[in-house]
Amino acid sequence: MRLNSPIAAFATFGSLVWALPTEDASNTPKTLRDVIVFPNNTWVENIAVRSNGKLLVTLLNIPEVWEVEPLSGSAELAYSFPNANACLGITEVGHDIFAVNVGNLSAPATGAPGSWSVWTLDYNTANSSSNRPTPKEITAIPPAVFLNSLASLPTKPGVVLAGDSFLGQIFAVDTTDGHYNVAIDVPEFKPNATAAIQFGVNGIKIHDGHLYFTNSLKSPLLASIPLSTNGTASGPVKTIAKSAQYPVNSGFQADDFALDATAEYAWVATNLSNLIVRITIATGKQQVVAGESSDPVVAGATSAAFGRNWYNRHILYIVTDGGLGDPSSAGVTGGKIVALDTTKL
Ligand SMILES: *[C@@H]1O[C@H](CO)[C@@H](O)[C@H](O)[C@H]1NC(C)=O
Ligand SMILES: *[C@@H]1O[C@H](CO)[C@@H](O)[C@H](O)[C@H]1NC(C)=O
Ligand SMILES: *[C@@H]1O[C@H](CO)[C@@H](O)[C@H](O)[C@H]1NC(C)=O
Ligand SMILES: *[C@@H]1O[C@H](CO)[C@@H](O)[C@H](O)[C@H]1NC(C)=O
Ligand SMILES: *[C@@H]1O[C@H](CO)[C@@H](O)[C@H](O)[C@H]1NC(C)=O
Ligand SMILES: *[C@@H]1O[C@H](CO)[C@@H](O)[C@H](O)[C@H]1NC(C)=O
Repeated sequence: MRLNSPIAAFATFGSLVWALPTEDASNTPKTLRDVIVFPNNTWVENIAVRSNGKLLVTLLNIPEVWEVEPLSGSAELAYSFPNANACLGITEVGHDIFAVNVGNLSAPATGAPGSWSVWTLDYNTANSSSNRPTPKEITAIPPAVFLNSLASLPTKPGVVLAGDSFLGQIFAVDTTDGHYNVAIDVPEFKPNATAAIQFGVNGIKIHDGHLYFTNSLKSPLLASIPLSTNGTASGPVKTIAKSAQYPVNSGFQADDFALDATAEYAWVATNLSNLIVRITIATGKQQVVAGESSDPVVAGATSAAFGRNWYNRHILYIVTDGGLGDPSSAGVTGGKIVALDTTKL
């Protein structure tokens, strides 16, 4: 495992214990492999895949993005954001340019209003000796409270949609000039007023002119909405799955998810429920494909993304908080990246 100056990079963790990326021998089915296990108390939050195959993951417990090589599990710090304590959604907004949501959490699942901004990390202008991307703050989003997921809008190059889980709104942010506006605000995005956690729209993905989204604690669990070219809604919300038919811990149904290339399925990370659930887009059928309520294998799964190259297009890379969100259900490990071979399901 190669790390750039691990002592400096991980000083904030207080622990330098790394598990080597090994093929899991014990109770893990062969379809799953730990790519990397970060130190205890690392909350891996979101993931994007570079065209060169490397994985970019955002951390929630510290404001850092790491680049991980998916076969060897070697990891390097890409960037540590100033003036914030967390980063969340990440999406490729132009070739090898990644947008990231950055801000302050005042407690778990509680965003600090007024602390949020959208940044880009540009690998086209990476430092030639360190290979680190060029960071740029695109704009602060003062009205935001908990900027969670990000998705690039294919019809407007440079524009991303950013979901606010607390406000239950989606902002459109133009990374070329910093302009932003509320693009979509529908009841299906709102938090569940009677739930303990005020968290509504969570994962967002765009495919073929539609925005797909999860709501963490309210029905619909998974739905879609047609988009106009500028990222506003051009029709009503269509429910795909009303509510969870799998075991749910703490009322938390769903976190972020991945769509496969043809959007046949949504591959949903369930965070507190410690599962990966495959939902058929056409029918809403729900199938647990990895994990169990009390199993640490994908405990605290926060998001997922498919590989982009011939050797890993069928591999779903799952990121986890290591069970930190709900230590009582499956214990705590370091946050992880877990590879799921979907051809073996
Ligand atoms: C996962 O669940 C925990 C505990 O409720 C919450 O703090 C966290 O925000 C959730 N993760 C996301 C980003 O949905
Ligand atoms: C985030 O919180 C830190 C510590 O409270 C504070 O210094 C910083 O200004 C905050 N950042 C923003 C963008 O509000
Ligand atoms: C590029 O990286 C090298 C090695 O880490 C560092 O010494 C140098 O200051 C960096 N250059 C810039 C422009 O950031
Ligand atoms: C809101 O949360 C409560 C408590 O978990 C649950 O019983 C109810 O079904 C939820 N409402 C919707 C619309 O999902
Ligand atoms: C987006 O497009 C819709 C429909 O074409 C239009 O009504 C709306 O004004 C546009 N909004 C913005 C912010 O450009
Ligand atoms: C990680 O934290 C758990 C729960 O506190 C503890 O049982 C475990 O020993 C820790 N692992 C390491 C490698 O420190």
